[in-house]
Amino acid sequence: MTPKKTVPAKKTTTMAAKKKSDSPKQSAAKPSPKAAKKSVSAPLVSENELLMQSLRGMRDILPDEQPYWERVRRSLSSAAQEYGFQRIDIPTVEYLHLFVRSIKQGTDIIDKEIYEFQTRGGDRVALRPEFTAGMGRAYIQHGMSVLPKPIRLFSMGPVFRYDRPQEGRYRELWQGDFEVFGEADPILDAQVMQVAYRVVHELGLRDIEFQVNSIGTPESRKRYEKALVRFLESQKHKLCQVCRDRLSTNPMRVLDCKEDKCVQLTAQAPQALDFLDDESRAHFKSLLEYLDELELPYSINPRLVRGLDYYTRTVFEIWSSDREGKKYALGGGGRYDLLIQELGGEPTPAIGFGLGLDRIVLEMKRTQVRPHEFAKPRVFLAQLGDLAKKKSLRLFADLEKHGILAAESFGRGSLKAQMRVASRLGVEVTVILGQKEALDGTAIVKDMVSGTQETVTQEKLTDAVKKVLKSNVALAHPSHTGVAHSEK
Ligand code: HAM
Repeated sequence: MTPKKTVPAKKTTTMAAKKKSDSPKQSAAKPSPKAAKKSVSAPLVSENELLMQSLRGMRDILPDEQPYWERVRRSLSSAAQEYGFQRIDIPTVEYLHLFVRSIKQGTDIIDKEIYEFQTRGGDRVALRPEFTAGMGRAYIQHGMSVLPKPIRLFSMGPVFRYDRPQEGRYRELWQGDFEVFGEADPILDAQVMQVAYRVVHELGLRDIEFQVNSIGTPESRKRYEKALVRFLESQKHKLCQVCRDRLSTNPMRVLDCKEDKCVQLTAQAPQALDFLDDESRAHFKSLLEYLDELELPYSINPRLVRGLDYYTRTVFEIWSSDREGKKYALGGGGRYDLLIQELGGEPTPAIGFGLGLDRIVLEMKRTQVRPHEFAKPRVFLAQLGDLAKKKSLRLFADLEKHGILAAESFGRGSLKAQMRVASRLGVEVTVILGQKEALDGTAIVKDMVSGTQETVTQEKLTDAVKKVLKSNVALAHPSHTGVAHSEK
């Protein structure tokens, strides 16, 4: 184990470090007097670090939960493949300015939620709070603009936001991200929405609805913002304090506010759709026609502006309509036709979306969707005595090499205990290697279905096991005689 490196507190300036501790209240193990003495000059390890606990808002995804996650991962990968998205993996840490230039100051992500810090080399960097900025950077850095367009990229992984943790809201969250570079046609907007729908629908989620809006171009947005500010200024006293401040910094964000009084007021505010330029209006109209053609469930939400500032024209979110009142955006996206140029690339229209995988898993559980079923072992390898144990290690590898999924319990000595494990697993074949078999190079193959058994040489073991598995398949499905079912 490498000893934990320590950094003097002054040099690391994470948001978390600036604020008071995020750990849930509990009594930490008292540091030894020696450690306490050390910490007077330079605390090497804070008390909180001594707690064997993950950070607030960050959690382990335990083996129990993995079948859900596996189903999500598979669905994302197959949708990506079917719609021509190529996988890309990008770093978790990027220069801070990439995110500031893309998502922009005035948004919650940049103002409040980004995990930023200075490296030992003095670079200002940040944990990615989303994928789009990094995908855009990769597109430019690797000269993808010379490739045939559109370029479709897909990624999946954790992103970090210093948000207020609660169910469905985490500080380390997982996203599946899809981006299309180099095509301005609204048909692409509809197609990426179709991909998002394909994923959630295929996962068995129903009662899904898109909310769509168009926020136009920067020019039409400016005209809209002016009208919005005029309206909101006249009713300023009805806004929450944060939104009053937003009026001068980023008035569009007021439409995003979840405070009741702000929601009520902005319901009467002017709408972006009424200020669209002709091209954006035509773009939006075509998109709606395509969505109708695809029969995707959507409603127009004129207040939808999204929490990131790179969008132009189409914005959308995918919502689950939970009748119990808990509502989550399972994903969101939109067009960002100016971002690549703003980051220093060639003018490149683009559109994409991100799905919140933690929320999708929550929704799968809530609606009792079936998780993925991992293949179960059909064979158990039992052994007795040191030599048999040693040989079993090799036989297990042989079975695996032949695509036969086996289980074992090497740590257990007694045959009885091992047979108990075998029956708990419900395997069809148990291979028994006792002291005698280990010595004379044989093994007992026991058919757990019929109860019959035979002794075979260890070289013939995989063939003998396959034969039993094949006959079991034939018994269960008389028309099917292959062993593929048992193979990985
Ligand atoms: P976003 O709406 O910020 O968009 O995030 C996408 C999804 O991530 C949300 O709809 C939600 O499901 C999930 N999510 C966001 N914050 C949290 C959180 N604190 N805890 C759990 N889940 C969360 C983006 O990130 C854009 N980059 C999407 C995009 C791609 N636009 C264009 N291309």
